[in-house]
Amino acid sequence: MRICVLPGDGIGPEVCREAVKVLKKTEPCIELIYGDIGYEYYTKSGNNLPEETLRKVSSCDATLFGAVTTPPNIENYSSAILKLRRHFNLYANIRPIKSIPHQISRPGINMVIVRENTEDLYSGIERVEDNGDRAINEMVITRKASERIIRYAFSLARSQGYKKVTCVHKANVVRAACGLFRKIAFEIADENKDIPLDEMIVDACAMQLIRSPESFDVLVTTNMFGDILSDEACMLVGGLGLAYSGNIGKKISVFEPVHGSAPKHAGKNSANPLATILAAKMMLEHLGKHESAKKIEDAVIECIRKNKVTADLGGSLTCEQAGDAVLEEMR
Ligand code: NAI
Ligand code: MG
Repeated sequence: MRICVLPGDGIGPEVCREAVKVLKKTEPCIELIYGDIGYEYYTKSGNNLPEETLRKVSSCDATLFGAVTTPPNIENYSSAILKLRRHFNLYANIRPIKSIPHQISRPGINMVIVRENTEDLYSGIERVEDNGDRAINEMVITRKASERIIRYAFSLARSQGYKKVTCVHKANVVRAACGLFRKIAFEIADENKDIPLDEMIVDACAMQLIRSPESFDVLVTTNMFGDILSDEACMLVGGLGLAYSGNIGKKISVFEPVHGSAPKHAGKNSANPLATILAAKMMLEHLGKHESAKKIEDAVIECIRKNKVTADLGGSLTCEQAGDAVLEEMR
């Protein structure tokens, strides 16, 4: 198994180091290929995502990504992770949301948000008119991308034993674009009669996520709604120190913590590595290494139960000690 590791900026290298320790423990024969990405590399080379890194990602079975810094004030600079997702057409963004045994988390939650990752309002098609007083971003929804993501949601529900798929949209108002997505969801549901489809308007969904999060199984939605709802949902189960996701394409997949480079923690050995360790767990599941994945997940849960965690979760461990604690629980 060849894994590409892209540590990136800020706390990225620190949290990746801990995740790699854990990966090596469960899969001793793993081959690791490290690549450059992000702002620090840009300051040295003028490029935040070099060709060499793209080649490394292509040559591996999967990629583990840490985080990158994206300064808002540099002209024509765009986030290296967004570029990576776009380059490899990583069309599905998958975010599992599960309760953990900690007071920070609400109980009884087990859902997955499946977000379309390539189009919608993030299509990049925009223009400014009327001397700068009228601005337009196009919400692009295509049959091809919608079918692909909705099929993905049904097959994920089936393989992971979820009972239903909920299509989240705003077709009552955004009639053309959301209407197409909704229509396609019901078409695909006809091919998947073993798993019922229901639907929810996005604002009602945002409310239900707080009111009764335990009622959700698999949610499938367009890019921007998924972006917002998945950040909302991760706060129900422990927040940024634990939230992880996968970006899935046809051949290439990239797994990452949801958080950014957290400059406040960078170089201080204080960041929580569990989100990245759980991203590594998700990567192993994706590669069919279910036993190793389960081992990691169980060890993380034990650490949380025993309060062997970093300060953001109320513990007193450093980043490195938190990684060691997971290793210890895996014995
Ligand atoms: P952030 O996720 O880096 O930090 C938000 C807050 O959460 C901060 O208070 C931070 O200290 C805390 N936090 C995040 N991860 C943590 C961890 N592992 N352990 C303990 N506390 C943690 O988001 P922020 O501050 O908005 O952005 C910082 C930089 O990261 C920016 O340059 C931004 O563009 C970039 N970013 C990159 C992402 C990526 O690479 N996927 C995602 C989000 C932001
Ligand atoms: Mg987001």
